Amino acid sequence: MSSSETEGAVRIAPEPFAHVDAEEVRMLTEEISALKVEKGAIILAHNYQLPEVQDIADFTGDSLGLSLRAKECEQNLIVFCGVHFMAESAKILNPTKTVLLPSLAAGCSLSDSITYDSMMEWKDRYPDHTVVTYVNSSAEVKALSDICCTSANAASVVRSIDNDKILFTPDRNLGAWVKKQVPEKEIVIYDGACPTHDVLRGANISAADRGDPGTIIIAHPECREDVLELADEICSTTGMFEAVKRHPHARTFIIATEWAHVHRMKQMFPDREFVVADGCIGCRLHCPYMKMIDLKALKRSLAERVFEITVDDEDMAGARRSLERMMAVPRDA
Ligand code: 13P
Repeated sequence: MSSSETEGAVRIAPEPFAHVDAEEVRMLTEEISALKVEKGAIILAHNYQLPEVQDIADFTGDSLGLSLRAKECEQNLIVFCGVHFMAESAKILNPTKTVLLPSLAAGCSLSDSITYDSMMEWKDRYPDHTVVTYVNSSAEVKALSDICCTSANAASVVRSIDNDKILFTPDRNLGAWVKKQVPEKEIVIYDGACPTHDVLRGANISAADRGDPGTIIIAHPECREDVLELADEICSTTGMFEAVKRHPHARTFIIATEWAHVHRMKQMFPDREFVVADGCIGCRLHCPYMKMIDLKALKRSLAERVFEITVDDEDMAGARRSLERMMAVPRDA
């Protein structure tokens, strides 16, 4: 059974790398490349996708980079290798295109932690606040927000708002990090978190640090405060590439985010060592939803045009307003 046949079901993700047969990867890669040309498609992939999926993508990036790429894209068919809210954003930003998500099981528990009802309840509690919503949220929730942000622009988005009262949803760790950077605003933070990042503790980082005085710690802002306090650099996944360049003399980097991200870091910086931070010994930070898409699911998606992402008209207009306002704000430094 392919992963896309488990539509809507919860399934244990394949163990990364465990069963990847090089010959099968080569054949599937060739078939997918041919199908992509035949169908006139573009393949976009998030930095947490399986390495072999990242390798075949036309563009790999963070949430902000993928949204920008989807908005500008000329191909009529976008195959989005990421999670549902990302594919939904691509559809919202480029509504005349067909957007496919190779597995409908690719959800996001952070996004699911805020619903229409819970957002309405928080908005009622804080009626004078401007609502800033992380893109890890549904179109329905984005439509109820004033503006969106990603991990690459959250502080700049909050600074750009002409109101000192902010309601930040749904990620409490990203919200706390923004609050530190923008102390002049009164920021109320919703109580959601990404379970993949939230398991990590400062103690895990200290255990991974082998005492090399040149070791640099780079963390994603979805990590908890005790982790961020130890970090030399805090940035979005794509921001991490620039962060490595800022430390030309460092050899070892501890990366506090989902394990698949180091695939391209290793490709781009072959002379450096990347150590993925562990939530517990031998257990890398792993997002099961990001791993729902493998090459077989991607091939099927192109061949059978599944699964098409649609957004209802009312949510579409409101969510697009929130996303477009965000996209007018530059990336954080
Ligand atoms: P980035 O936008 O930094 O890639 O993060 C996306 C995400 O979902 C992190 O868990």
